[in-house]
Amino acid sequence: MTDLIPELRTPTAPEGTGRVHSGMPVSRIDGRAKVTGAAQYAAEHDAPDLRYGVVVSGTIARGTITAIDTDAALAVPGVLDVLTHLNRPKVRGFDLAHKDMTAPGGSPFRPLYGSRIFYSGQPVALVVADSFEAARHAAQLVKVSYQEEEHETNLLGSLDQAYKPRALKAGFTPPSSTGDADKAYQAAPVKVESQFYHGVEHHNPMEMHATTVVRADDGHLTIYEKTQSSQNSRWYVSHAFGLSKDKVTVRNPYVGGAFGSGLRPQYQLPLAVMAALHLKCSVRLVLTRQQMFTFGHRPETWQQVKLAANPDGKLQAIVHEAVHETSRLEDYVEVVVNWSGQLYACDNIKLGYKLVAHDRHSPMDMRAPGAAHGVHALEVAMDELAYKLKIDPLELRRINYAERNPMDGKPYSTKELAQCYDKGAARFGWANRPIEPRSMVDGDELVGWGMASGIWDSLVMVARASAVLHADGRLVVSSAASDIGTGTYTVMSMIAAEAMGLPMEQVTFQLGDSTLPMAPIEGGSSHVATVGGAVHGACEKLRTRLMWMAIDSPKSPLAKATPKDLELADGTVRLRKQPDVSLRLVDLLAEKKLDRVEDKFLMTPQMLKQRKYVRAVHQAVFCEVRVNEKLGIVRVTRVVSAVAAGRIISAKTAASQVIGGVVWGISQAMHEESHTDHRFGRFMNHNFSEYHVAVNADIHNIEVIFADEDDRIVSKQLGAKGVGEIGIVGTSAAIANAIFHATGKRLRTTPITPDKIL
Ligand code: MOS
Repeated sequence: MTDLIPELRTPTAPEGTGRVHSGMPVSRIDGRAKVTGAAQYAAEHDAPDLRYGVVVSGTIARGTITAIDTDAALAVPGVLDVLTHLNRPKVRGFDLAHKDMTAPGGSPFRPLYGSRIFYSGQPVALVVADSFEAARHAAQLVKVSYQEEEHETNLLGSLDQAYKPRALKAGFTPPSSTGDADKAYQAAPVKVESQFYHGVEHHNPMEMHATTVVRADDGHLTIYEKTQSSQNSRWYVSHAFGLSKDKVTVRNPYVGGAFGSGLRPQYQLPLAVMAALHLKCSVRLVLTRQQMFTFGHRPETWQQVKLAANPDGKLQAIVHEAVHETSRLEDYVEVVVNWSGQLYACDNIKLGYKLVAHDRHSPMDMRAPGAAHGVHALEVAMDELAYKLKIDPLELRRINYAERNPMDGKPYSTKELAQCYDKGAARFGWANRPIEPRSMVDGDELVGWGMASGIWDSLVMVARASAVLHADGRLVVSSAASDIGTGTYTVMSMIAAEAMGLPMEQVTFQLGDSTLPMAPIEGGSSHVATVGGAVHGACEKLRTRLMWMAIDSPKSPLAKATPKDLELADGTVRLRKQPDVSLRLVDLLAEKKLDRVEDKFLMTPQMLKQRKYVRAVHQAVFCEVRVNEKLGIVRVTRVVSAVAAGRIISAKTAASQVIGGVVWGISQAMHEESHTDHRFGRFMNHNFSEYHVAVNADIHNIEVIFADEDDRIVSKQLGAKGVGEIGIVGTSAAIANAIFHATGKRLRTTPITPDKIL
């Protein structure tokens, strides 16, 4: 059933890769296809008579569309239609369409649904033409008239309107409290109280959001889509448009980054499908870089942290409250404060979390949603406390090391944070750090060293995989997983090759098609434990089946063995103790006259066991900054990120994930922020020239260390947790703390732009 689908162009490891095992540094097997252009992204798929859609974005933040004049646009040669809320085809289940796997509580934004305007940049029309150029030109000729209403987009100006979220997303725990933090705070001798503000950050993957709908003559839609789950997008399209499951296939074999922006279907997907159904043709729709700022974003966030301790450094109280924006349609929640109840031993913890509804699109998960801001606040406050106590910041973390989760006393499934502190500090040279700020100078620059802890949840979901051994000795393993640039192809191929004792180039792992065995969204750093568990399970079943086949073979040299005596290696079944007594797998299949042997596995988390533990990945980040105070310029010259994330499958792809997270942490700390002109309620710097991200010149030495850890509670099959998100978590706090050490200036707000240094 699950053999290779040619259109996916699935990569396989190059000849000569040979045997691999967990922990090896294996290079990305899709890397070559990606850098040579052989990999096809959503907007690169062709179809006969392909039509092109261009979205017209609205210009007001709140109000009603009173008229849309499309005459001039329709008069452009090549334009086929202009879809608006007035003439769009009927959509069967627009109300259902929000029940996707990652939707917040409330009612989602529905593109071209009606005349209401909910946010600036909202799609108000879709021009479809027989060329991209005609569509783009015509889109500029669409004239929209509005009745404007007063809007609100200013978080700090509307904190008094904060409310408790009405609905929490499935799986999210509302913040709670333990002990009496207010009382303990009052009574304690040493305390700090700090406020933090973070501006809006936007997802800017290299590949922009795009959909190509390829319509077959029989009406079947094959949709190439930028998404973190082909099956989630398939579900959404089927339900929104009332199309049966077998009439829609969604594919995402190559994704040029997503970082959470592909968890929910973005509006280009329903608009492209709408056009394809309406005009009965194939349609491609690509958002512009500017339009990438018109869907969800990391929310603007305000926080307050209060810490209290005894003179010996023992924490007496943690109070952490956060308020962030959401839209008027949905209660988007990322909790923000929860990790402050998991990181340090403390009897009195109070966590509070509220939202403010604004005239903006709902925010959306972005790499380590919630923790990226929440842990920043906690870790900068811990640094402030360390300086008040005159205790080394790393020592303060060690004094308050939590052996059990402080909120409920549960043990951690595994927690090798102490190893991260030890190994990270040794590698960085932390022991030589003078504690006084402004004590290290090098030429024109002040030098500062800072550190922070990091924590992120270890999630596991449900997935299936199938493993097929073919008569020619090749193994094809399939699951509808995604590889958003994370290394899924590589890691899954490694897991399968190791389990089956095959050279890696003989194994192909196929993902990125909604017809493949069920897999969840690639999100929450859960893919390795989840899909990897399914791949491992399927291969183990297949391995045992092949062993029995070898034992049951009439003239088999292994006839007297039991599976315990056997192993699979180098394409053979052989005796563990006498490797030269073996049977080639190809001969085994030939003798049984089989084209293929297949096994499947359903991976489910060990829920009952897991509930007894707190499951998280941990991290210690150490960094060096060099600050030119006259120019306000900060260089992050050295970062050591030590991570405890269970067993590491590919040391290279895992380290790359953490490096990517650190790079983004630098970007978050120093560069990224959009500015809203509240008169218009609009993000003004919605382009790469004014929305700054870290570039090569901003990145210097980054080292990644993995702690030895093996977590069989999170992942029974592999012992792995996940590394996709942890890399960003502590980084911005470590940088802010290093800047304090360099300059004596405590900066709590990100990004730390030159004006704040001066
Ligand atoms: Mo990630 S924000 O879970 O894609």
